Amino acid sequence: MADNSVPSFKASDLVIQLSSTLKAKSDVFTFGTVFTDHMLTIEWSATEGWQAPLIQPFGNLSLNPACSSLHYGIQLFEGLKAYRGDDNRLRLFRPMLNMNRMANSAKRACLPAFDQSELLECIRRLVEIDQDWVPQSDSASVYIRPTFISTEPTLGVKKPAQALLYVILCPVGAYFNTGGKGLSLWADPKYTRAWKGGTGDCKMGGNYGCSLSAQYDAVDYGCQQVLWLYGEDHQITEAGTMNIFLHWINEDGDEELATPPLDGIILPGVTRQSILELTREWDEFKVTERYLTMSQLCCALKQQRVKELFGSGTACMICPIEDIVYQGENLHIPCQEENSQLTSRIAKELTDIQYGRTPSDWTFLV
Ligand SMILES: Cc1ncc(COP(=O)(O)O)c(C=O)c1O
Repeated sequence: MADNSVPSFKASDLVIQLSSTLKAKSDVFTFGTVFTDHMLTIEWSATEGWQAPLIQPFGNLSLNPACSSLHYGIQLFEGLKAYRGDDNRLRLFRPMLNMNRMANSAKRACLPAFDQSELLECIRRLVEIDQDWVPQSDSASVYIRPTFISTEPTLGVKKPAQALLYVILCPVGAYFNTGGKGLSLWADPKYTRAWKGGTGDCKMGGNYGCSLSAQYDAVDYGCQQVLWLYGEDHQITEAGTMNIFLHWINEDGDEELATPPLDGIILPGVTRQSILELTREWDEFKVTERYLTMSQLCCALKQQRVKELFGSGTACMICPIEDIVYQGENLHIPCQEENSQLTSRIAKELTDIQYGRTPSDWTFLV
């Protein structure tokens, strides 16, 4: 529903300039390398407010070299997907959660507010226009990347007086190529992804750029991703760019699915929220948002109380974790032996919703 209290662009003002030539589509979907024919751009300035949204041919942006997104990282982004169902309809999965998270990130970045449902309607139109790019496949989709940058053309760290919100789309397949194995993670407390009072709960580029050297250290140690730890007690926070879940028999002997609480250092993942809601509805075991430390995990592994450890996120949905390199040791998680039962069940229930096999009010028809 439109929120008239926020000055915003309106989807009804959308201007559409279709591309005169369409690109050839290929079946190889390497994440984020190929983009569809069109993009959405919406300009804002402190003096003029929001301009009419524009869908135009995909192309380069022209930016003043002084613009503060380039110098001070005043920018943010989102990530969601459009799925083509067995019924040939296109669906987005809980897109208002992304719109709300984007609005929260914008507030933290001192970028202007907008009406989230108006943005969603503009995105719906963009996906509709480029609908032929959404693959007919259970393992592929179109990734939607809303981005919001300061275009303030002056040096000086200040609240931007000019900004650009834009959305690009790319067809994607499987995010990780682990050859059917679980992920391997490298856990070293010398790096921190996010900290209390920081921006770890916002989707800002700076959170990702500064994680890159740790990611390459992980690769040097023979691992695929970083397991981000926090604090003196080596709290487990996130895995790469995923939220993390532990399915185990906890210290009290109860079967539990646990994930760290949203205390400011965790990104509030849409998949995370959906897994919590789904498994709480099953009501088959405890589902808890709680702190988990490496020593608790090591102890549970020794006592064979760990059932599964997995990451969750839009890009990969759910990804079992099989190994963790920590303090010179390789901790093996029994995901293959147990056949990843919970992971497979959650993945099936969520994909059935995303591809329209299970009717759900979590989907938004394009
Ligand atoms: C740091 C981080 N954690 C978790 C997630 C998972 O969030 P979502 O489930 O909304 O994709 C992402 C991906 O956006 C991320 O970048």
